[in-house]
Amino acid sequence: MTADLFSDMAAQDATPQPQSLCPGAVLLRGLALPDQHDVLADLDRVMTDAPLRHMITSRGFRMSVAMTNCGQLGWVSDRRGYRYDSSDPLSGRPWPAMPESLLRLARRAATAAGHADFLPDACLINRYQPGARMGLHQDRDERDLGQPIVSVSLGLPAVFQFGGMLRSDKPLRVPLQHGDVVVWGGPARLNFHGVLALKDGVHELLGAQRINLTFRRAG
Ligand code: SIN
Ligand code: FE2
Repeated sequence: MTADLFSDMAAQDATPQPQSLCPGAVLLRGLALPDQHDVLADLDRVMTDAPLRHMITSRGFRMSVAMTNCGQLGWVSDRRGYRYDSSDPLSGRPWPAMPESLLRLARRAATAAGHADFLPDACLINRYQPGARMGLHQDRDERDLGQPIVSVSLGLPAVFQFGGMLRSDKPLRVPLQHGDVVVWGGPARLNFHGVLALKDGVHELLGAQRINLTFRRAG
């Protein structure tokens, strides 16, 4: 093994230095890379059990991002509004269990961001194809807002918008790549955030899409 190869592997296994976005929010570049193959294989199984679908907002709009969930609780939206539900409305069955590889990744990220006791019970899986976007919103449907959000990016790059407590606060634009993780909590827990329209492209593992995993303690 050459010295260079060895140092690349060491760099990949090392926990990245958290980069602060604002008080309470950090970016962990590449933190998901060591787990990527297990995570992608487990995600395939989850998405076979509970297929991605375009949910409808309470105002009747079809979301451009396709979604599904795993874990005890799943985030759902329909004409009645947003909520967490223990079963998949498409099948009537419980959501697939959260695979160990995903739980391990979420806990490793939360710990690196200073939330060592994070135990997520919900993982929302968001699939963006080119053109899909997510408007600025707050994550506020969870019971305990003392628990952080762990957000993992896989596949095509995207521009994450991270704003303040007010919708009118000008958001930062954070370019996110495959393997990057953002964690926010504490004073940033209710900050507005969103994703700009995904640009065309082909990722070597995931093709023409970006997958985002959002881990939360919902119940
Ligand atoms: C979300 O806010 O649920 C998704 C964020 C992202 O896709 O990075
Ligand atoms: Fe969100």
